[in-house]
Amino acid sequence: MPEGSAGTDAPLVIAVDGPSAAGKGTLARRLADHFGLRYLDSGRLYRAVAARLIRDGGDPADAERAVAAARALDDADLEAANLRDEAVGRAASVVAPIPGVRAALLDYQRSVAATPPGAVIDGRDIGTVVCPDAAHKLFVTARLEVRVERRCLELSEGGATVDRGRVRREMAERDARDQERGIAPLAAASDAIALDTSDLDADAAFAAALAAISGNADTL
Ligand code: DC
Repeated sequence: MPEGSAGTDAPLVIAVDGPSAAGKGTLARRLADHFGLRYLDSGRLYRAVAARLIRDGGDPADAERAVAAARALDDADLEAANLRDEAVGRAASVVAPIPGVRAALLDYQRSVAATPPGAVIDGRDIGTVVCPDAAHKLFVTARLEVRVERRCLELSEGGATVDRGRVRREMAERDARDQERGIAPLAAASDAIALDTSDLDADAAFAAALAAISGNADTL
């Protein structure tokens, strides 16, 4: 196991940030299994806020209702069946820039990180805002065309009819919203290791991440 803070039993945190469909979820889950850590998909929290708002007939852009939904989030919301729906993803990217929503979700994410033995957390701002002291930070990217292809495959495997042009347009729009928002934008931490998975399958991405983490651990 790579070390957290040398010589202590401090929880080990691995931050895995990047845009959607770059492969960070699959990678983060495998890293968590490998190191015996918890796995937290932080995007799920924003999706759960969005799904709760949609369920209650609220407008995702209504900051007051979005913050109330984030504060009221419970386990059932995190297990809702529709969290991966495109409409929920779209609404999640609308609630994500609302400062009160981010503040309401911050403590939960940090408490997961602080619970031994630690966690692998994937998202957009884990290495920059949620866990700036994470022992290891990966910034996982892939070319837009590759990410569109992966998302189309995921949708068609789920039985959906796929409109490739629409998937591409919405992914580009969501990237822009995530990168350009004033609060906790999608960005690589200055001490993150970049991993481009465009030409890597899941096994190769995992091997590259392990190599990066063990190389990084030597410098701690
Ligand atoms: O990774 P995802 O598609 O499940 O994320 C859903 C939305 O939540 C996406 O628009 C980005 C946002 N998000 C965020 O702002 N910060 C995070 N740490 C994780 C996700």
